[in-house]
Amino acid sequence: MNRLLIKNGTVVRPQGCEPLDILAEDGVIVKIGKKLDAEGAEILDAAGLHVFPGLVDMHCHLREPGFEGKEEIRTGTAAAAKGGFTSVCCMPNTAPVNDNSSVTSFIKMRAEDAGFAKVYPIGAVSKGLMGKELAEMDQMRRFGAVAFSDDGCPVSSGVLMKNAMQYAAGMGMVVISHCEDLDLVDDGAMNEGLTASILGLRGNPTVAENSMIAREILLAEYLGVPVHIAHVSNGAGIQLIREAKARGVKVTCETCPHYFSLNDEACMGYNTLAKVNPPLRSEADRLAVIEGLRDGTIDAIATDHAPHGADAKNCEFDRAANGLIGFETAFALAVTHLVKPGQLTLERLCELMSANPARILSLPAGRLEAGAACDLTLADLEERWVFTEAEIESKSKNTPFLGAELTGRVRHTVAGGRILVRDAKVQKKEEA
Ligand code: DOR
Repeated sequence: MNRLLIKNGTVVRPQGCEPLDILAEDGVIVKIGKKLDAEGAEILDAAGLHVFPGLVDMHCHLREPGFEGKEEIRTGTAAAAKGGFTSVCCMPNTAPVNDNSSVTSFIKMRAEDAGFAKVYPIGAVSKGLMGKELAEMDQMRRFGAVAFSDDGCPVSSGVLMKNAMQYAAGMGMVVISHCEDLDLVDDGAMNEGLTASILGLRGNPTVAENSMIAREILLAEYLGVPVHIAHVSNGAGIQLIREAKARGVKVTCETCPHYFSLNDEACMGYNTLAKVNPPLRSEADRLAVIEGLRDGTIDAIATDHAPHGADAKNCEFDRAANGLIGFETAFALAVTHLVKPGQLTLERLCELMSANPARILSLPAGRLEAGAACDLTLADLEERWVFTEAEIESKSKNTPFLGAELTGRVRHTVAGGRILVRDAKVQKKEEA
């Protein structure tokens, strides 16, 4: 039997923080208590560390199949593990698109071979992400899809979205909506506002995002089914969700670390590394995102890890690809910008980065208790460090956070009782 004993750490769960040891046998937590001992167990000393249930990323892009030059499932899940994620959900905008069960099972198989973070594929809503015809949703569910989304593209047709939401709900699943009215975006390259004017770039207004958030809320309310809003970026959109929740609509939402760490001024100098979709918004919107995280309107922090090669960013701003790599900075950005300034408790951080995303997608994750898989993220919340290119595990390096001084670092990541990351270093399969 394989035994792992995590000693001397402070366990963080939504119900509180407590100094507790954790014993796992064959990858499953069997005991949590004070001063545990276990014969023959490997000991992982967590003195000075906080032990979270393994982080869950409900929104990322692993790019395989089709865009292996940007990322592979192996490199992406290694980067995820380094960032403390033990479970990640990957979006279907691959080539071919994950709109059928053979792509879904290919992704699952590649993830198992890689052996790092566990991968839960998200199937497409529409065939080829074309927004015309529903994809084979039930087939994909049978082969491991955990939700449906056309992320990267909006589902512009209201009736297609209505049918997808109804069909997904019938299977106990949820549609994740990338909200963007392309007519209102009107080729905007960054947030509409002063910075866009200074740079002479076309603006993408918040109403382009929010009009579709409003549509999804109304559809969910009309049908009485759940919907999840991806990467919410701005205050007015959050307010729509806040009001909908208050009247009982089954709407949940996520934001991403860049929306609470940066505003649109990060695009100054035509910095394509800060080009994402939805775009970085105003400072007032950044503060509204933090308020949404604080008051419970926002349910989850997801990375939207979106790797792109150098060519896609070393070009004119309006031609550059949207997206930034997010796995390896997400936890530290949350500690630096939310926990340390006193905006979020550790319990709330645990909900946002583990318990809630697992609950929304019904994943076997996000619980630190006897009987659950031994998926753990051990972090030093005081460590100050500088994020440098040399230590990026992802195949792509597109991040605006290079050189950022961060507080809080993932030291060890354990998934299914295997130590994937030890002392902030990814372990090769045979070492783990
Ligand atoms: O910035 C983004 N990048 N937003 C998206 O919705 C898609 C993603 C990508 O696939 O690169």
